Amino acid sequence: MNRKTARPYTLVRGDSIEASKDNVERVRSICNEAAVYGILFQPVFKGTPYSSEKAESFLNWAAKGWAERSHFVFLVLDASREICGTVDIKSPELEGAEIGYWASEKHSGIITPAVVLLCEVARRAGYKSLYAFVLPANTCSLRVLTNNAFQVEERGVTHKDKICDLYRKIL
Ligand SMILES: CC(C)(COP(=O)(O)OP(=O)(O)OC[C@H]1O[C@@H](n2cnc3c(N)ncnc32)[C@H](O)[C@@H]1OP(=O)(O)O)[C@@H](O)C(=O)NCCC(=O)NCCS
Repeated sequence: MNRKTARPYTLVRGDSIEASKDNVERVRSICNEAAVYGILFQPVFKGTPYSSEKAESFLNWAAKGWAERSHFVFLVLDASREICGTVDIKSPELEGAEIGYWASEKHSGIITPAVVLLCEVARRAGYKSLYAFVLPANTCSLRVLTNNAFQVEERGVTHKDKICDLYRKIL
């Protein structure tokens, strides 16, 4: 449920969503929104827009992770089954795995509850802890973590050439 609007959403495995034209377009559009692009893709693409090809390969990579048990992407869908965001576990390391997430600002309110579910699914699957690297200025992401009782483990960690804080939750 969206925390702000109380609208219902569904969390689904990445391998249940096809890389259809509509889904590719949703991912492309969200990943070009200022907040998502600025935090996640500007450092990589340096101002070049997030392309349809990249969106298609993201959806294919999401499905492949389940087949190969290498990474576990979930998509957040609204009532009309449009993609609104994603949460993922980036490795099968049960002692501790990194998580990530993004969401369309038009659906803000979905990622704190999506991470609640992600933590529960991970705990049942045998993960002992989950962690995330966050830029200290990324207050929205920090709130997602603290809302979910992640605690700061180390500050000033270099991650992908950026100075981040490392947050972890024991499951
Ligand atoms: C971080 C992100 C996933 C949060 O998505 P969301 O669905 O808005 O998440 P939540 O509803 O759980 O909100 C988290 C906090 O951000 C705040 N927030 C969300 N949008 C906001 C906005 N436009 N202005 C100010 N605060 C905002 C919420 O109020 C909430 O804080 P609260 O618990 O104190 O109320 C989303 O902003 C995003 O995709 N950011 C870019 C990508 C990113 O940072 N990924 C994580 C990298 S570590």
